[in-house]
Order: sequence, then structure tokens, then C-alpha cells
Amino acid sequence: MDIKRRFSLLKKTLIAVAAAGTLAALATAPPAAAAQPPSTDVVGGTRAAQGEFPWMVRLSMGCGGALYTPQIVLTAAHCVSRTGANTSITATLGVVDLQSGSAKKVKSTYVHRSPTYPTSTGGDWALIKLASPVTGIATLPIATTTAYNNGTFTVAGWGAASEGGAQQRYLLKANVPFVSDSTCKAQGGSYADLIDSAEICAGNVNSGGVDTCQGDSGGPMFRRDANNAWIQVGIVSWGEGCARAHAPGVYAEVSTFATAIKNAAAGL
Ligand code: ARG
Repeated sequence: MDIKRRFSLLKKTLIAVAAAGTLAALATAPPAAAAQPPSTDVVGGTRAAQGEFPWMVRLSMGCGGALYTPQIVLTAAHCVSRTGANTSITATLGVVDLQSGSAKKVKSTYVHRSPTYPTSTGGDWALIKLASPVTGIATLPIATTTAYNNGTFTVAGWGAASEGGAQQRYLLKANVPFVSDSTCKAQGGSYADLIDSAEICAGNVNSGGVDTCQGDSGGPMFRRDANNAWIQVGIVSWGEGCARAHAPGVYAEVSTFATAIKNAAAGL
């Protein structure tokens, strides 16, 4: 598939996500009282504990994000339309339960969309400036080298818990193994067009079952660094369906864009 077709497909997906986010995101939730069914979500994940991933952000267009500085959220370029002033996005922070009364809600003032997306260079990242800095919420540092582009990653989000499923009220998390560019490309279809330096794949290639899904876009993929601190290595970008065998999740490769992200943030 050529790159234009791939990105137009992504756009369609995103429109569906945005609609689902508005209509269904807050409508799914089991009340706390009754016994919970075994939680199997993101796809194949479990519920995150309050405070476990403090920098997780839910964006009102139906995407995820990570708090990069107290006033800047890192998300996916395909979650936003353009660079410029933008007061239409609401960021929800500080909670795993989107309906919690203690959620912090802050409006956007400005969006910076990666200038290299969508081009053959890739770079599915964007920054959202918040109207005011949030206090008391840890930020998530980004990987600046390729050192952590391997191993087992954690992903989290309020997106669908199954392909075609509803958006979630409670933050879900899962672990996914690194998949090399060569293995990822060998899955064929859109994967054959993988941009090596811009994209990093993760998932159970042969069995599927665990993955991010629609509505998780823009959220972080992260792991522990050499000091046992969380570090962001990816941004949820795309996949063929969700959690299918031979269809790993594809993430923007943060280390490749770390300097561009840092410079853009400094100018916001
Ligand atoms: N593009 C999707 C979104 O807008 C993310 C899909 C991720 N898919 C996957 N199989 N990992 O939310």
C-alpha cells in the first residue's frame, strides 16, 4: 500500500475514534460496587492503579497522551489536524477513572503538529500546550537514544478493549514485547511500508491477543530505564485491526524525534 493510502486509512480510523470518543467514552463504565468481570483491556490488559502512571492524559478528541512538561502533552500527529492556536481540546489528567470528581481538566491553547507527518520521513507526534501548568503530576521523560528500543514495553489507554469495542472509563494497561523492524515488515500489507527510523513495532507477532487499539492513539509506550525510572519510547500510532496475530502495534519511534520534540516544546 502506498503511503498516501495508508494515511488516508488512518484518517478514517481517527474520525471513527473521535466519534466513538465523544459518544461512548464515558458511557461504558461498570459502577464500582458490583463484582468486576476479569478485566481484560487495552486489548488483553488489566486496570491500572490510581497513580501508577500519573502522566497519562486523556484528550477530548478521543486520543491519549503523556504529560511531557507540566504544561505540554505529547500525543500523536494523527490526533490533531494542524499547527496553530487551538482552544478546542480538553485534557483530563490525574485519574484512572475519567468520571472521577478529582480529575483535573485543562483546555488547550496551542497545537504543534510534527512537520514531517505524514511524509516519507514519518513522525507521528504532536505537542499540545495547556492553558495552565498542572501541579503535582509527574511528567514522563522521553528516550533520547535508541538504547531502550528493545525488551518489554508497557502501554496504557482508555481506548477500545477489543477491536471495534467501546472506549473505556478506566485506564487499562498491558505489556507488549518489542518486534524488530524486519519482523514487523515481514507481516506484509501496510507493515511492508514501515518507516524503520520513524516507527517501532510491539506485540505478540505469532499469537496476537495484547495490543493498543482505537482511542489509545497518542498515548505512550514506555519501559524502565537504567535507573528503573519510566521512559517513553513510543507513541501509539496504528495497526491492522487490534491484537491480531501477525499484525503488531506500530508506534512512533520517540528517540528519533526526541530533539525535534524538545526544540518544539521549548518554543511553545
Ligand atoms: N490509530 C488508532 C487510534 O487512532 C490506534 C490504533 C492502534 N492499533 C493497534 N493495533 N495497535 O486510536
